[in-house]
Amino acid sequence: MLIRRPADILSSEITAPAVYRERRRFIAQAGSLALAAALPAGPAHAGIGPLTPSPLSTTEPPTSRKAVTTYNNFYELGTDKADPAENTHRLKPAPWTLRIEGLVNKPRSFGIDELLRLAPLEERIYRMRCVEGWSMVIPWVGIPLATLLKQVDPQGSAKYVEFVSHYDRATMTRGVLDWPYLEGLRLDEARHPLTILALGLYGDVLPVQNGAPVRLVVPWKYGFKGGKSLVAIRLVDKQPTTSWMKAGPSEYGFYANVNPEVEHPRWSQATERRIGEFTKRKTLMFNGYTDQVAPMYAGMDLRRYF
Ligand code: MTE
Repeated sequence: MLIRRPADILSSEITAPAVYRERRRFIAQAGSLALAAALPAGPAHAGIGPLTPSPLSTTEPPTSRKAVTTYNNFYELGTDKADPAENTHRLKPAPWTLRIEGLVNKPRSFGIDELLRLAPLEERIYRMRCVEGWSMVIPWVGIPLATLLKQVDPQGSAKYVEFVSHYDRATMTRGVLDWPYLEGLRLDEARHPLTILALGLYGDVLPVQNGAPVRLVVPWKYGFKGGKSLVAIRLVDKQPTTSWMKAGPSEYGFYANVNPEVEHPRWSQATERRIGEFTKRKTLMFNGYTDQVAPMYAGMDLRRYF
């Protein structure tokens, strides 16, 4: 990854907990309206329910909305952190369809309104840790990926899931990576209850720079696993080669689990800087989600499978 030192973001940019609690009360009562208002009008969106708070959320204070929406990695829209928010016109998030295909008995495409109706929309406040050494706490809005996978009935031979991002050569970055941006998970990781497809954040529809209209969120892995603006999800029998694995196989592994003990070849992963904080914190194994996810990796040498 093209590493740059994160520009310092002031601690005053972290949303004060009281303000955030107030906002959550609003979301609980009117989340459906907020999301519906931000989506194209029409009966297709009439079925959005209120946001369900999730026991899987962290109680840590979320990073400011400003930082979450202006400090982004989305190379198709530029390689500087500020570029994606400035280049949102290069991606049109509607109309949109997401295809689920490959080793499934019922392949099909979903419109965003269909995804919104699949399951109650949950607010999931997750710690997110980037491989570059910074972290955020983000209040996502989404549905479990497992819910979507159930709809297409995966075949027994499906072992992995490949995630394909939208790419338009005419409007997006050329070079840098092998496009489209590809990510992958093992099928059990994809079905894990923590894994979600995000359709929003901070109670609103997902901003383009964060991966509108639908992106993957896997909180125990480095941020690059969360493919943005997904157009296809493919169930496959072999481990997919992801864009970052192609770009630097010794630096970016398939698993990419947050692990303070496995160094990136060019820097340590032992600590991180939470955006908005001054002092560094220790990075936690699996980004603090050990209890939930460690059993999936029992017996694996995590130095080898990084
Ligand atoms: N998805 C696409 N399509 N293109 C990208 O460049 N960057 C990844 C990931 N998903 C990326 C992507 C990286 S490196 C990170 S850290 C996260 O998106 C950042 O997500 P955020 O901007 O919503 O915090």
